[in-house]
Amino acid sequence: MNIGIDLISFYTPPFFLSLTDLAAQRKISAEKYTIGIGQDEMSILPPDEDVVTMGANAAQSLLDKVDKTQIKALIFATESGVDQSKSAGMFVHRLLGLSKECRVIEMKQACYSGTFSLHSAMGLISLQKNAKVLVINSDVARYDLNSPGEPTQGCGAVALIVSNNPRLLKVESESAYISEDVMDFWRPNYRSSAIVDGQYSTKIYLKALNECWKKYGELTKRLPEHVHHFCFHLPFTRMAEKALKQLFRCKEEFQSRFIKSSPGFRYNRVVGNSYTASLYLNLCSLLDCSAENLEGHRVGLFSYGSGFVAEFFSGVIQAGYGSHLLKDLHSRLISQRKKISYREYLEFYHYALPEQGEVFNVPHFTNGHFRFSGLDNHKRLYEKTVS
Ligand code: HMG
Repeated sequence: MNIGIDLISFYTPPFFLSLTDLAAQRKISAEKYTIGIGQDEMSILPPDEDVVTMGANAAQSLLDKVDKTQIKALIFATESGVDQSKSAGMFVHRLLGLSKECRVIEMKQACYSGTFSLHSAMGLISLQKNAKVLVINSDVARYDLNSPGEPTQGCGAVALIVSNNPRLLKVESESAYISEDVMDFWRPNYRSSAIVDGQYSTKIYLKALNECWKKYGELTKRLPEHVHHFCFHLPFTRMAEKALKQLFRCKEEFQSRFIKSSPGFRYNRVVGNSYTASLYLNLCSLLDCSAENLEGHRVGLFSYGSGFVAEFFSGVIQAGYGSHLLKDLHSRLISQRKKISYREYLEFYHYALPEQGEVFNVPHFTNGHFRFSGLDNHKRLYEKTVS
C-alpha cells in the first residue's frame, strides 16, 4: 500500500491580533504568551468567514493541480460546524465545482477528526485505486474573553489531497490509538465558546502521548531516535516543547530535537490554535519552512482531540516533494494579514447574526476567494469573490 498525502495547502483569514497587544490589555507580561505559551499572534475570523469559506479557500489552491473528476469524496473535519444537519462540506462541494459523483461528509471529535478523516480517505482509496479524496480540516478556536484559553484562540483550514502514489507523504500502516471519555474541553450546543479545564487538558494530552508512543514503539520496534521529525497537535507551540521533553528525556537530545523541529512551529505560532487543522498546519510548516532536504525522512504525527481520542502514526516524505509545495502562497497569506487593534478584535468577537430568518447581508471584510455573504430564511449564503 502506497497511500498518503499527495498535496497540502492552508488558509487563514487576513486579520490577526498581536498577543503582545492582548497581554497589555490583560495587564500581564507579554512573555507569558510569547515564551510561556509560545504564541506571538492569533488569526482572527472576520464576520464574513467561517469554516466553509476557510475550507474552500484552502482547497481551492490545490484544485488546479489535480483532475477534479477524480475526487470521489470530500471529508470535512471540524468542531465549529455551521449547521446541525447539513455538512459544511456540501457548501464547499458547490463552491469548488466538484463532481456530483463525490461523497460528502462531516466528521467530529474535537481536534482529532482530521486524523480519522485521513485514515478513512486511505481506506476508500484502498478500495478504489484511482480515486482521490479531499480532506478539509477547518476550525475556529474560541474561548471566553479574559479566560486562560483566550491567548490560545486562532482559526484556519488545511486541505489535503489523499491518493495512491502520493507526492508528499506516504502514510505508514502502523498506528497507535486510544480513546477515553474525559471532560477536559467541550462546547455545549448552546455556547459559541469552548469550556476547558486547561491544566487538566494539558496533563491528559501528555498522558495520551505517552500511551500512544508506547504502543507505537511496541508495534514498530522504533525508538524516538528512529523518527526524524515530530509533528503534534499544537493548541499552542509550547505544547511541542512539553511533548518533546517527554519523548526525549536526555537534555541535549531534547534540545537538538527542539531546534530541528522549530520550522514546523512557525505557522502555528502566528495562526494560533486551529483545532482539527493544527497538526496538519505543523506538518505544512515543517515541509515549507525546513531548510533541510527532508526526502526519505520519517515524520511522526501525534493527533489529540479532547474528550479524548489520540493517535500516533508516521509517514515518509517522498522524493521530489519540494516541487509540490505552495510555500510562496502560504508565506504571502501570513505576511499580508492586517494587524487589528484590540477594539476591532472585540467588534469581530461580539459580531452576532440575527436568528429570526430575516434577510441579512454581512458586510465585506475578507479578501479571500470565498465569503459568507448573509442569511435568507435561515439559509446561509456564500459567494465566490474572485474567479
Ligand atoms: P494559564 O493557566 O493561564 O497559564 O494558561 P500558566 O499559569 O500555566 O502559564 C503558562 C506557562 O507560562 C507556564 O509555564 C508559566 O510558568 C509560564 P509551564 O508551567 O507550562 O512551563 N509563564 C511565563 N513564562 C515566561 N515569562 C513569564 C511567564 N508567566 C508565566 N512572565 C493554559 C495555560 C494552557 C491552561 C491555557 O492557555 C488554556 O486553558 N488553554 C486552552 C486549553 C489547551 O490549549 N489545552 C491544551 C491541551 S488540550 C488540546 O490540545 C485540545 C484542544 O486543542 C481542543 C480540542 O481537542 O478540540 C484545546
